[in-house]
Amino acid sequence: MPNIVVDGVQVEFKPGEKIIDVAARAKNVIPRYCYHEGLSIVAQCRMCLVEIEGQKKLVTACSTPCTDGMKVNTTTDRVKKSVAGVQEFLLANHPLDCPICDQAGECSLQENSYKHGNEDTRFDFFRRTYIDVDMGPSIKKNMNRCIHCTRCIRYCDEVGQIHEMIAEQRGNNTAIVTIDDKPLQTAYAGGLADVCPVGSLTTKDFRFKKRVWYLKTAASICDGCSQGCNITVSHDAGLIYRLEPRENQEVNKWWMCDEGRYGFHHVHSPSRVMSPTDLRTSEMKSLNWSEASNAARELLKSARSIGLLVAADATLEEVVALKKSFPQAEFFSFSIGVDKSEDDKATDHLLRRKDKSPNLRGLEEAGFKPFSSFDPKNFDLCVFVSAGKVRLPYGIAKLAKKSIGMGLFFKEELTGLNLVLPACSTYEKAGTFVNQQGKKQCFAAAVQPVGMSRPLENILSALSDGARKVG
Ligand code: SF4
Ligand code: SF4
Ligand code: FES
Repeated sequence: MPNIVVDGVQVEFKPGEKIIDVAARAKNVIPRYCYHEGLSIVAQCRMCLVEIEGQKKLVTACSTPCTDGMKVNTTTDRVKKSVAGVQEFLLANHPLDCPICDQAGECSLQENSYKHGNEDTRFDFFRRTYIDVDMGPSIKKNMNRCIHCTRCIRYCDEVGQIHEMIAEQRGNNTAIVTIDDKPLQTAYAGGLADVCPVGSLTTKDFRFKKRVWYLKTAASICDGCSQGCNITVSHDAGLIYRLEPRENQEVNKWWMCDEGRYGFHHVHSPSRVMSPTDLRTSEMKSLNWSEASNAARELLKSARSIGLLVAADATLEEVVALKKSFPQAEFFSFSIGVDKSEDDKATDHLLRRKDKSPNLRGLEEAGFKPFSSFDPKNFDLCVFVSAGKVRLPYGIAKLAKKSIGMGLFFKEELTGLNLVLPACSTYEKAGTFVNQQGKKQCFAAAVQPVGMSRPLENILSALSDGARKVG
């Protein structure tokens, strides 16, 4: 295997690899702005300048391929002076608004300024200013902060595959705009905030909600469709603030769609049923868990046949618990978009799928029948399980003789249910989904269950005595 030497450390490389990536394997993170592993290389910002022994000029590490025996230096005085100069140049027009910038705490400009920049500024001219602009429903633009790295332009062209952002004017007047100032069309607009290395493009959903240093994170899986994009959930004090893509080259690379990115607000919806609720009389009555378990047992005892309709965002672990608790019941799956996973297909060039549930394949592998074969009238009791974002068909409980709802229910969808036992949403539990590729993906719980909600397994184990005697 050929190798290069970076600051005295020998590192192997594959032909075609660039210095910036090979150095990173030796834990040498060369500063960069315009370079992003998922985008084409333009070597525009000049922040990644390095010295190659035997070559007169400094080169950009992001665009220079490695050759066997190459000796690269990233810490010589010449490199340090040049990188500090580039940093100073990029800051020439940048406002001193870190205290009110949403990117503060995770800003490449701040970090590089601290590590590689000069201590003071020699720039005492007026800085150019622009007003903030809405770029459609997802992104707000603050052009004052832009360093013209063009990541956003390449992201729209190459990831969103819509040519909708450009740089207009030249030199000091260069501004990044959408063509004809139109709102962004891409279904992946939120990713612009991920790739923008400064606080120029931010998501409207997260903007000004929380300082990032207060956020904790959990590794999770998006439950918005069968792709199962890997994500990071940022949260604090029991509240979810944002979802961001987590790199997985086999599933979602570095990306996620806007539908998934903003699809968590239902977790904290004020209309979510947060305590066990008895609906057997005309009055809705909140119960404690002991009363709720008794009420559920009563309903279960009187049933000779039980059918379970489970939304396909139940985890594999929940499926096992359901099967164990209802050994003689019939199981059906429900998804939005498709009845069976064989009908699933891509709905765009990148990630989004027709099947709007994260675990239909998992339920099918566990023997669940498709929704099209489910008839609530065939059972004395129906148990409707809604474990995540997939909403069961509106009013289906009205067709059942008797019914229990377990999981995530909202006040506007209780019609026909006799009892609701609230359980965790995807981000309140750990578990495993099987995505459209058949990949089993585990995820961690991010926040505590809201209100009196409990893990489904706990609810089932409290009921199991009563359930085993029926069906
Ligand atoms: S808006 Fe952000 S991503 Fe786009 S060119 Fe400016 S700094 Fe780069
Ligand atoms: S493509 Fe599907 S899994 Fe990926 S972020 Fe979008 S909704 Fe979520
Ligand atoms: S990161 Fe290499 S020139 Fe911008």
